[in-house]
Amino acid sequence: MRNEIIHPSHSVSGALELPGDKSISHRYAMLAALASGTSELRNFAAAQDCHSTLGCMKALGAEVQVDGATVKITGHGLHGLQSSWRSLDAENSGTTIRLLSGILSGQAFTTKITGDASLQKRPMKRVVTPLRQMGADIRAKDDNFPPLEIHGGTLHSIHYEMPMASAQVKSAVLLAGLYADGITQVTEPAKTRDHTELALEEFGACLEERGRTIAIHGRAAKNGKAGFQPKSLDVPGDLSSAVFFIAAASMLPNSNLYIANVGLNPTRSAILDLFQRMGAAISVLNLQSKQGELVGDLAVKGAKLKGGLISGDLVPLLIDELPMLAALGPYTEQGIEIRDAQELRVKESDRIAALAENLKRMGAKVEECPDGLRVEGQSAGQLRGADIEPRGDHRIAMAFAVAGLGASGETKILDAACAGVSFPTFFSELRRLSGASNQ
Ligand code: S3P
Repeated sequence: MRNEIIHPSHSVSGALELPGDKSISHRYAMLAALASGTSELRNFAAAQDCHSTLGCMKALGAEVQVDGATVKITGHGLHGLQSSWRSLDAENSGTTIRLLSGILSGQAFTTKITGDASLQKRPMKRVVTPLRQMGADIRAKDDNFPPLEIHGGTLHSIHYEMPMASAQVKSAVLLAGLYADGITQVTEPAKTRDHTELALEEFGACLEERGRTIAIHGRAAKNGKAGFQPKSLDVPGDLSSAVFFIAAASMLPNSNLYIANVGLNPTRSAILDLFQRMGAAISVLNLQSKQGELVGDLAVKGAKLKGGLISGDLVPLLIDELPMLAALGPYTEQGIEIRDAQELRVKESDRIAALAENLKRMGAKVEECPDGLRVEGQSAGQLRGADIEPRGDHRIAMAFAVAGLGASGETKILDAACAGVSFPTFFSELRRLSGASNQ
């Protein structure tokens, strides 16, 4: 068990480059394994989660070669996956198990897929329900939890009205739709990240979007010509990882931070609009489009942050950023209130409970409710360093490391290695940019 000590700091300054986006890396890896030939993915996520996806694609017969952040994947076509003699292991990654369930539903073989103790507690019914409607036979523990046993086969198209806003559910149905006959449609109750749609189009699938409904044309016919071509792709830096540094730089007055090559897809960048509305000093530079994804650089300076309420349709657009926003609450003028975010209770940990508990350990005033929490602002006093228990959740560990920079005294992040699930170099980068490398 590795602990990390965070010392108070006055600034987070310098230049930062981020590992590749986790969501995009998962999707490129899966689709490259369905292409006919070798794809090259550069700046592939260092995140352990994405390496769990690589492990699964390898077990399914794709050749995977990792050389630092460059990953070469050789696929054998849409119908070229092979059954794995052992269970696939998605480890801590909900995106791996849920998206792959869609692909595995279309295969003419049976696959078992499971994950670590945290993943085994996460609900899978949300993907199992539509995939069963499409014709897959899926068994799950208590009909909801991993391990999943997926008996794939011939799928038929459906129009699925999603009961919840989840990019993972939408993606599982669209990926299964690749193997269905006819046109599969998914309607989402609120917009979620669209990396699956963009990546599918990039590899050659045919999609249409009307409002909140996305349609994909199936390729059930085993027609070589209709298959995916291999691609050479650059993964943009992960905005959800950048957010920890944006928050740190905004909250510490003397900061001057430059983050190069960040993914700014509009279905992910609501967090930047929110920061700007709260008064943050963030400039976007060198905006360009790469393979359908927007990419740019960010310059961030220290600023006074107002705080405010985050609720409704905004929640799915910044779901992964909510832990950082809550932990930033005590540094804002009015505090932060998060509502309509019951999904946070079924992430890598119960994030509402983990945030409330650790904020209280640091002396913050917090009120927990079933769908969120309210964190009082600066008037409740300065945070004090404390021992933080991240419950094995990478985003809780990183959010409190940032909160610790503005606290009095030392903050100890217990079992900090869990940050590697999304950002293995997080603590060394934080030490470097906060001037703590020599402490
Ligand atoms: C993700 C979707 C979100 C997000 C997760 C990554 C994705 O989950 O929280 O970290 O890559 O599709 P939900 O779809 O469950 O909201």
